[in-house]
Amino acid sequence: MSIPVIGASRSRVDGPDKVTGAAKYTCDRELPGMLHAVVVPSTIAYGRVVSIDDSEARSAQGVVLVMTHRNAPVVDENKVGAQDAKLFLLQSDAVEFDRQPVAVVVARTFEQAVYGADLVRVAYETRAPQMDLDAAEVVEPQQMLGVDLRLRYSQKEKPALDGAHTKIAQLYRTPTEHHNPMETHGTVAAWDGDTLTVYDSTQWAFGVRTRLAGVFKIDPSKIRVIAPFVGGAFGSKGTAWSHVPLAAMAARVTGKPVKLLVTRPQMFGWVGHRPQTEQHFSAGASADGTLVAMLHDARNETSLSDDFVEPCTVFSRDLYAVPHYTMHQELRRLSISKPTYQRAPGESTGGFAVESAMDELAYALAIDPLELRLRNYSEVNPNNGKEYTSKKLRECYAQAAERFGWSKRTATPRSMQRNGMLVGWGMATASRGTHRGDSSARITMQTDGSVVLAVGTIEQGTGSPTVYPQLAAAVLGISADLVRFEWGDTNLPTAPLAAGSQTAASVGSATVLAAQALRDRLASLGGKIPAEGITIDINAKVDESEEERYAQQAFGAHFAEVEVDPDLLHVRVTRFVGAYDVGRVLNAKTAGSQLVGSVVWGISMALYEKTRFDLRTGRIMNATLADYLVPTNADIPNPDVIAVEDDDERVNPAGVRGMGEVAMCGCAAAVANAVYHATGVRVRELPITVEALL
Ligand code: MOS
Repeated sequence: MSIPVIGASRSRVDGPDKVTGAAKYTCDRELPGMLHAVVVPSTIAYGRVVSIDDSEARSAQGVVLVMTHRNAPVVDENKVGAQDAKLFLLQSDAVEFDRQPVAVVVARTFEQAVYGADLVRVAYETRAPQMDLDAAEVVEPQQMLGVDLRLRYSQKEKPALDGAHTKIAQLYRTPTEHHNPMETHGTVAAWDGDTLTVYDSTQWAFGVRTRLAGVFKIDPSKIRVIAPFVGGAFGSKGTAWSHVPLAAMAARVTGKPVKLLVTRPQMFGWVGHRPQTEQHFSAGASADGTLVAMLHDARNETSLSDDFVEPCTVFSRDLYAVPHYTMHQELRRLSISKPTYQRAPGESTGGFAVESAMDELAYALAIDPLELRLRNYSEVNPNNGKEYTSKKLRECYAQAAERFGWSKRTATPRSMQRNGMLVGWGMATASRGTHRGDSSARITMQTDGSVVLAVGTIEQGTGSPTVYPQLAAAVLGISADLVRFEWGDTNLPTAPLAAGSQTAASVGSATVLAAQALRDRLASLGGKIPAEGITIDINAKVDESEEERYAQQAFGAHFAEVEVDPDLLHVRVTRFVGAYDVGRVLNAKTAGSQLVGSVVWGISMALYEKTRFDLRTGRIMNATLADYLVPTNADIPNPDVIAVEDDDERVNPAGVRGMGEVAMCGCAAAVANAVYHATGVRVRELPITVEALL
């Protein structure tokens, strides 16, 4: 089944609404009589609340309610789904991390609530937080994204490694990073009797509904979650964090709709973060560069109440042809909030270790880094021997290397200079598993030939209202302008979590199947549309046994150029070329934005981002965008990204293998490898700082 006319550049249909302010984000919602809530976060990382003096706050102008553990309604904080976090809903005096909610102040205006929150005096009994990975409690996870972590854990790889002609064994570190989408988290909650309507900034309206049903012990059918526009999320909005039920609790107590916005410094509190990792990675090769063994042993921080595995080892498990491979992962409990998925979880952090190590191995063997990867190219998934639905990684290497000019590189570190600057060229492989979830879709053709496509997914900048109509139109052989998209509401057909680069595979496949069924129905009616129109409801469930037939994965190749000031050791990325193998491209313009976005974040991971903790107190020291470094336009060299043509007909009906995150996997290693080539200094801990290059 081939879909014609796919991939055309189409500008965002919601672009004008977004730039004029007509597109309503959660923070823009105004309901009659609505009150404003602000969370009071803890100022200790571990201990308990001894007393709260809220007298001043309660008498402040406009303040309606100060909700603390002494007067909050009793609700259920426990997890519903496996990926849920324990919530912190003012049910006890315990404090488990910096910036945990300890009170909520509700007032007539946002400013009054902020001022009231400032007047709440909390006294704590402080205990010593656990901030040391080495000393922390060890957790051995059994599973990671459904994969048995101990599946291939054995000792037989060690002799193979020890006997290798050339080997490297190093420790790579990646830091805690906090998501900071332009729109912070926010919720508006309104009760009508025992039914609840919630506007939320979320990646999954249906997940929010399930979670709220669990907290309030009401049937999900009593809850409606509305979430059309989301101003960025990147994994942090994959689950309903504590402020969502807190808004609904405040609304229930006050009997008024309540808007609760998470402030920028609170983004470093209870709403998730990428956990720091420490990865011991070893690889051995024969003299010609053929890999003989790999060991990947990773650990990451998690919180006192939750297990979160950052699946670093997926990257090494699923990429190179290597006869002896072992992985192991464990968690360490710190006095921090629960980590969560952040853009390319696992493969971005794992990719830094593996692709840095491959570069180190290339130097040790005196083989070109690209050539070393080609010598270990795997035609099948090396973990399970399965054929891929499609794999065009060779084409990625070739196209990006050609455009970058890789053949002109001189191998020796510090051998390339320009205008008094050290120049470095580095490369790395990108790799990321393809995911897909069950999705429904409803498609209606009206008598005038116009079409309405409805799915309860969200739009977080990826282009949902632009791309899915394109896909439906391509199947129907009509103009995309004739297809209107309805989305962002649990009253619409169910969609899966919009994360893990799975939305186009999931919602896109439901769209294709619905449009095909509509096309067939129309044909069976001889092309005549009845007065009531034609409506098709599709529930596109993932067929597990079909999924098992082939390996599904996206790939790519990154090439980075850096300039390093030889005196100041300041690093700038001056050029970046990447080619990515993502299956079908549904819209060249929005796809290009996705790929560039990931590259920007990969550069940011390499050079800038790190959440800094005071290890004595467990408090975060850089919880503002003035202190937490992210790149500006001047730091980014206008990445040149190529989506390699690939009409993958086996992966799923939409033909896509996920493109949101793959360009971030291995990206930081390409920069680190370029920095090594420029300076001769190998930095194995992110971000790469001037101090590390001294
Ligand atoms: Mo994905 S972790 O939601 O960017």
